[in-house]
Amino acid sequence: MLNGYGGAMTLAVAGTLMQTPSPDRLTVIDAVVEVESAGTITAVHDRSTAEGAAAGRLALDSATERVELAPGTFLMPGLVDLHIHAPQWPQLGTGLDLPLERWLFDYTFPLEARYADTAFAATVWDDLVPSLLAMGTTTAVYFSSNHLEATTALAQACARHGQRALVGRVAMDHPEGTPDWYRDATAAAGVAASAASIEAIDTVGSPLVDPIITPRFTPACTDALLEGLSELAEASGVRIQTHCAESDWHCGYAADRFGTTDTVALDRFGLMRPRTVLAHSDHLTAGDMGLVSGHRAGVAHCPLSNAYFANAVFAVRRALAAGVGVGLGSDIAGGARPGLLGVCQDAVTVSRMLEDGVNPALEAAERGVPESRIDTVTAFWLATASGAAVLDLPVGLIEPGRRFDAIAVRSDRPGGAIRLWEGIDDEACSFEKVVRLATADDISHVWVDGTQRPSGEGRDQWAGP
Ligand code: GUN
Ligand code: FE
Repeated sequence: MLNGYGGAMTLAVAGTLMQTPSPDRLTVIDAVVEVESAGTITAVHDRSTAEGAAAGRLALDSATERVELAPGTFLMPGLVDLHIHAPQWPQLGTGLDLPLERWLFDYTFPLEARYADTAFAATVWDDLVPSLLAMGTTTAVYFSSNHLEATTALAQACARHGQRALVGRVAMDHPEGTPDWYRDATAAAGVAASAASIEAIDTVGSPLVDPIITPRFTPACTDALLEGLSELAEASGVRIQTHCAESDWHCGYAADRFGTTDTVALDRFGLMRPRTVLAHSDHLTAGDMGLVSGHRAGVAHCPLSNAYFANAVFAVRRALAAGVGVGLGSDIAGGARPGLLGVCQDAVTVSRMLEDGVNPALEAAERGVPESRIDTVTAFWLATASGAAVLDLPVGLIEPGRRFDAIAVRSDRPGGAIRLWEGIDDEACSFEKVVRLATADDISHVWVDGTQRPSGEGRDQWAGP
C-alpha cells in the first residue's frame, strides 16, 4: 500500500495493551504498536521505560496513520472463532429444544438447503460477516452449506468485509445420516464438489481467506466420502474441520458403525492431521486425546452449544494437560451467543460447573471433577493465542512478526456495559470486566491485517452481546 506521495503507509496505535501470551499470564503495558504497510506488526514499544517512550513517540510521529486510544480504552488481540455454521445465522436463538440428531433434520438441514439460492445466501453473508467483525471476531472458521456457489459467495463476503476466514463447503452424502433433498449425490460427487470449492475459494484471491475441507461428521458421511476427502487433504495440503465425539448419540453411533471411538475412526480415515479442527470433542478418552495431540490437530471448544447438545462439559484443563491444542467456538447456531467474548465467559462458567458438579442430591465430594476450572485469563488465551496456534495462523497476540488483528474496547462508554472504579479496579479486574461484560457496542475499533474493519455500513449493524 502506498500513500498519495508514493511512500509506504504505516500505522501506529497507542494505548493500553492487554493480552494473554500463555494460559495463566495476563500482560498489560502502555504500548505503541507499529504496523508496516502489509499489516505485519514490526514493533511493540513499552512506554513505561524512557527508551520505549521515545521510540513510541518516534513511531507515532513517523506513521502515516495514527490511532491514539483514550485512557480507559484497551487494545487487545482480535478473537479467533474456531467453529461457526454460517448458514445457521438466521436460526440464532431458536430451535434448541431438540437433541442434536433431531435438531439437524427438523430445523437445520431445511434451513441449510435454502442456500441453493445464492442470492439468499449472499444476503445472509452480508449481515453475518460484518456483524461478527463488529463483535471482535477477526478470524472465523466457517462451515458453509453443501452448495458450491453459496460457499464461494461466503468467501467473497469475508474478502469484501475484511474478515480473516477459513471457509468450508460441507460434504455429506450418507443415505441415512442426511435427507435426500440435502446431500451430495454420491461420494465421488462430494469429493469433486469439495475440490471445486477449494479452487473457487482460491480464485477469490484474498490473502485473508482460505478453504477448509469439511466432512460434516461421521454420521453424515459414507466411508468412501471420508476416504476421498482425506486423499484430497493429502494432495492439496488444505486444512480439515469436522465434528468429533460431540454427544452420547454421536459416540454411540461411531461405536456401532466403526467398533471404536469417533476420534479413532477419523484417524483411520486419515482425517486427523496437523491443523485439523475438531468441533466439540467433549467425549474424548485419554487415548483419543493422545491421538489428537500426537497429530497436532486441535479442538474447538463450544461451551454454550455443548450445554444443549453434548451431554457433557468439555474438560479443557485435562485436554491442555494432555497437550491438545484448544480454541473457542461459538458454534452458531447450536450456541446462541455469537460474540466470542461472551463465549469466554461461558467457558469459565461451564468449567466451574464441571468442577463442582450440578446434582445437589450427591455429596459435594462426589459431585464434580476436581481441578476443572479455568479463569478469564485462560479463556481469553483460548479465544486468541491458542486458537491461532490450532490454526497455525500468525495472529492471536500483538507482537512483532504477527499480523495486526486487534480490537479496542472502551471501558468508559456512557451507557456502556462496563464500569471501572478508581481505587478498586486494578489491571487484572479491568481485564476481567472487559472479557465478561463488553458488548459489541463497547468495541470501538476492529483491525484485520492492519486495516480497520468493518468499513462503513457494517459498523452499526449489531448491538447485541
Ligand atoms: N453435528 C453435525 N452437524 C452439526 C451442526 O450443525 N451443529 C452441531 N452442533 N453439531 C453438528
Ligand atoms: Fe457445529
